[in-house]
Amino acid sequence: MSGRLRYTATERNRDPILDVLRGILPARGLVLEIASGSGEHIVHFARHLPHLDFQPSDPEATARGSIAAWTAHEGLANVRAPIEIDAAQIPWTIAAADAVLCINMIHISPWAATQGLMRNAVAILPAGAPLYLYGPYVRAGVKTAPSNQAFDADLRRRNPDWGLRDLADVVALAASEGFGGPVVTEMPANNISVVFRRI
Ligand SMILES: C[S@@+](CC[C@H](N)C(=O)[O-])C[C@H]1O[C@@H](n2cnc3c(N)ncnc32)[C@H](O)[C@@H]1O
Repeated sequence: MSGRLRYTATERNRDPILDVLRGILPARGLVLEIASGSGEHIVHFARHLPHLDFQPSDPEATARGSIAAWTAHEGLANVRAPIEIDAAQIPWTIAAADAVLCINMIHISPWAATQGLMRNAVAILPAGAPLYLYGPYVRAGVKTAPSNQAFDADLRRRNPDWGLRDLADVVALAASEGFGGPVVTEMPANNISVVFRRI
């Protein structure tokens, strides 16, 4: 089956992300991914975490085609068919999940997508469940790497509503919507993992 997209960063970051996920995901249940993109992450996680079920999603039809193609290629029974979710839309078309993942979306979408992510995730997660974010951020007291400064400028050139977010703004939003945390883990290439827990 053709249509499998390949993102170059995924080979580098999928195992470090998987290491963090092993420490935060529940023993059983449904893991919803927002902005699954190519689908390479979710099939990797599903292959290594066979005790969990995975629900990929993306607003782009091309991405959903790639996710379905990767799932078929890998022959994974614990990855559901991809669904269309725009994080900014309230409510989402899924009523419940035991964890929500969102990798590399917050900086490449308008702030409304992050607002929708928090509002919807709180609505579908049980108390104590994790919301996992991964990507580059601006942080007080942490010098932004030159590569991330250049990435931020490029994103803003492409769309003035995009750009690296200040972690403090994301944390404040999460707290206002009903999340505790964050727990931050340094990741390769000046990215971070950020884990919130629904209160
Ligand atoms: C840079 S790609 C990241 C894909 C994948 N998570 C990864 O890390 O390889 C950004 C993804 O965010 C998705 N996206 C953009 N705006 C979104 C929104 N409002 N809601 C959900 N996904 C969105 C895009 O369709 C795209 O698949």
